[in-house]
Amino acid sequence: MKLKFKKEPRFAELWDACLYNLLYDTKKYVNEILKLFKKNKISKKSKIIDVSVGTGFPALELTKKGYKIDCMDSMQDEINVFSRKAKKKKLNLRCKKLTWLQIPKHYKKNYYDFSFCRGNSFIYAAGGWNKSQKVDAKKSLKLYEETLKIFYDLLKDGGLLYIDKFKDSEKPHKTKVVEIQIKDKKYDLIFYNEIKNKLNIRSSAMLLRDKTGKEIGLPNITYLLSKKELMNMLRKVGFSSIKEMSFKSEKHFDIILAKK
Ligand SMILES: C[S@@+](CC[C@H](N)C(=O)[O-])C[C@H]1O[C@@H](n2cnc3c(N)ncnc32)[C@H](O)[C@@H]1O
Repeated sequence: MKLKFKKEPRFAELWDACLYNLLYDTKKYVNEILKLFKKNKISKKSKIIDVSVGTGFPALELTKKGYKIDCMDSMQDEINVFSRKAKKKKLNLRCKKLTWLQIPKHYKKNYYDFSFCRGNSFIYAAGGWNKSQKVDAKKSLKLYEETLKIFYDLLKDGGLLYIDKFKDSEKPHKTKVVEIQIKDKKYDLIFYNEIKNKLNIRSSAMLLRDKTGKEIGLPNITYLLSKKELMNMLRKVGFSSIKEMSFKSEKHFDIILAKK
């Protein structure tokens, strides 16, 4: 397979192309979400929010099916792709540009039945998305907990948070995943991942490598958050039931469903 672009893609456009062409079978993933909704009595009347909607996967697909989803994200790059796709799908859907710490000023407490924070987004609650940073474990854990309390407050009693993260078993790697053609130039797309266990740091990047071997990409650097730490923090901020979930169509991240 080869992914083709007419002009140099922004990071969010590359991520979006990977989501739909490499990482997910969208139909299967959306069907598994619909089953999860049905099991938990989430209907088209339910109040749903995606707090890291990115380029709109799968919020746009669910909105097209009639679900009402409030959308937010902190990055203009992603929001631009989201808005373009929403327009193309003839959906009157806007994405608020906010960080999670700004949520209390913009959304009501005890309001939502269901919240998504998917795509390994949560680990960036202490920064490091698309930029380098010096990772401070104590500061990261404090911000993670603060953010989870904000997510908790958004939900009604009985409301559900879908949150995911990279697998604890993830190994460092640098792998060519697909060929990319931009105008008449060919590149390899590389998924790169580095884990520094002793320092508790995880770095990841999508790199475009040209034929001379030059690589360009944006860094993503965070604390190496474990599933156990995340589950303990979810409990600490008040969630009453915290369960791991497995989706056949989700091969990349571990999913946790937490109930207020
Ligand atoms: C890996 S992308 C996942 C996007 C989308 N949920 C998906 O599944 O494709 C992570 C997203 O989290 C957003 N994000 C990271 N830190 C954030 C923060 N502090 N507040 C709001 N959004 C944030 C980024 O802008 C980005 O769109």
